[in-house]
Amino acid sequence: MEQTVISARLRDLLARARNVLVLTGAGVSAESGVPTFRGGGQSAVWKGMPFDVISSARMLERDLSAVWEWFNYRRGLLATLNPNPAHHAISQWQQRFANLSLVTQNIDGLHQAAGSRNVIELHGNIWRARCFECNSRQELPELRADCDVPVCTDCGGHLRPDVVLFGEMLPPGAFELAAHEAEQCELCLVVGTSAVVYPAASLPEIARAAGAYIVEVNPEPTPLSAACDEVLSDKAGEVLPLL
Ligand code: APR
Repeated sequence: MEQTVISARLRDLLARARNVLVLTGAGVSAESGVPTFRGGGQSAVWKGMPFDVISSARMLERDLSAVWEWFNYRRGLLATLNPNPAHHAISQWQQRFANLSLVTQNIDGLHQAAGSRNVIELHGNIWRARCFECNSRQELPELRADCDVPVCTDCGGHLRPDVVLFGEMLPPGAFELAAHEAEQCELCLVVGTSAVVYPAASLPEIARAAGAYIVEVNPEPTPLSAACDEVLSDKAGEVLPLL
């Protein structure tokens, strides 16, 4: 297979950049076995419901236990999976660059499992729950196959997955922090996202407007590709360790 060509300009930036932003999507976890949402044509369906129906704010109101059953199923899948070389490469970049900002749309926790810290999670995390009453966040270490609604250990209220569902706003502050880092970065790497879901997809645009060099890593073209300074059309697990 043909080796990915990395430009001299990118090599130079990788050697001297201080502020680097990495934005990841489902594609960075694809080589770990996590299904993507759109790339590859098909989209996930659960018990006859498309993922954007079962993963929606409306479903939370209509049938909370069905939502828990879906997320317990997904956690069961994820628990067997491990970070891949792309996750590991990014976690090592924390020592390499003075200021590395890692922003992810993924809820799978694989960046943290690879050792990345201070991950800006735009869409929440499947290993956490949040209380409807007191809004406290709680870790969900154990796996459950049932559809019981867990209760808050602080106030006894019902818990919901601490994940941004369709029809919901992002967690307060997460996007603002990511946008601030995008305005400061010299190099922005966009890895494994179809770049169609906003506001996450606006981050490379913010970085570009601030003069950053934009690099896309994705085996398939996206709406962002034409606006990038460099496109590495290959799998993240094969390209990122080369950078
Ligand atoms: N390496 C890099 N990119 C890959 C790989 C790989 N090994 N495999 C697939 N991809 C690319 C696909 O070509 C596609 O462009 O990853 C992208 C995945 O796109 P989506 O499935 O749309 O995932 P993402 O962009 O993260 O979706 C954004 O949408 O459904 C919501 O909340 C969900 O966070 C998600 C958001």
